[in-house]
Amino acid sequence: MKNKKAYIITGPTSGIGHATALELAKHGTLILVARNKKKLDLLQIELKDLGHDTVSVVCDISDIKSVRKAAQEILALGFPIAGLLNNAGIMPSKPLKSDQGWDLTFATNHLGAFALTEALAPHLPDGANVVFIASAIEDPERKPAKAMGMKGGRFISVEASARGEWKAGGAKMPGIDAYATSKQCILAATFAFARNDRRLHYNAIEPGITRGTSLGGESTNAFVRFLFGHLMAMIPPFSHYSSTPERSAIVITNVLTDKSGKTGVYVDEKGRPMLSSEQTRDPEFQDRVVAETRNLLATIR
Ligand SMILES: NC(=O)c1ccc[n+]([C@@H]2O[C@H](COP(=O)([O-])OP(=O)(O)OC[C@H]3O[C@@H](n4cnc5c(N)ncnc54)[C@H](OP(=O)(O)O)[C@@H]3O)[C@@H](O)[C@H]2O)c1
Repeated sequence: MKNKKAYIITGPTSGIGHATALELAKHGTLILVARNKKKLDLLQIELKDLGHDTVSVVCDISDIKSVRKAAQEILALGFPIAGLLNNAGIMPSKPLKSDQGWDLTFATNHLGAFALTEALAPHLPDGANVVFIASAIEDPERKPAKAMGMKGGRFISVEASARGEWKAGGAKMPGIDAYATSKQCILAATFAFARNDRRLHYNAIEPGITRGTSLGGESTNAFVRFLFGHLMAMIPPFSHYSSTPERSAIVITNVLTDKSGKTGVYVDEKGRPMLSSEQTRDPEFQDRVVAETRNLLATIR
């Protein structure tokens, strides 16, 4: 079994990650990385019943110590890893704190995904695909996000983001600045990784406004839940960007199993290359995000 190539997926227990696990399992052994052991066990049973091979690793992506431990466990499995999907993400409407005392949204969506990637990357075989699930909300010029009063990523510095501080003049909707800035940072890091590490391939995906997931489910704000869960996927102009977990799963699986060697590409919900915000396209900004993130993560022993 260990000769069979393997794919790592974070956040496979719900929404886009769950649909992707079902699709991706057709291509190799899945290493399922999730925080909830009960949900992991159920997912393993579901995939086993479909005839797929899986291994599970319990990990809280927002907790850097848990991420590093999980990376060691994954490497100890000894699988030839063909791809890593950084999918786990949250969008709570209340400011919450991670185990390290950092903003929970920033810790989950940026710091944890970054730390997992850096812990695994040196050990991945040449040509492995590393994929990040981003969000077009990071772009202040993105039409549907703009129409909803979102203002894009509100980056001051990585340290400020970890403290839960965002550039003034942000969105009125609670939690959105944290979410947009976390996605702005992980997208900038994707492009920096792609420029600086030619051995692996780093790409990002905007899955579209995807109904039927639990994103924002941590939120106490029923309106935000309804907005993201249903309304935005149905009414123009938002419906133009709408998708389902199953459609996202196909796009994501195509990028993760791609053998063309493409790197540094950001694709939309239909798998077409798209432009990210001007700021994330700036190599100076990209390198700054990477350097500051490494400095912050180095404080955790
Ligand atoms: N839905 C959209 O419209 C949309 C649009 C753009 C981007 N995205 C991105 O797509 C990705 C998947 O989101 P989704 O919509 O499928 O949401 P979802 O249904 O809430 O799924 C999120 C997944 O992440 C996991 N997760 C959250 N925090 C974690 C932590 N600390 N440690 C480990 N796992 C954790 C969740 O685990 P549990 O099952 O234990 O909660 C769940 O499996 C996210 O990165 C999101 O930002 C979504």
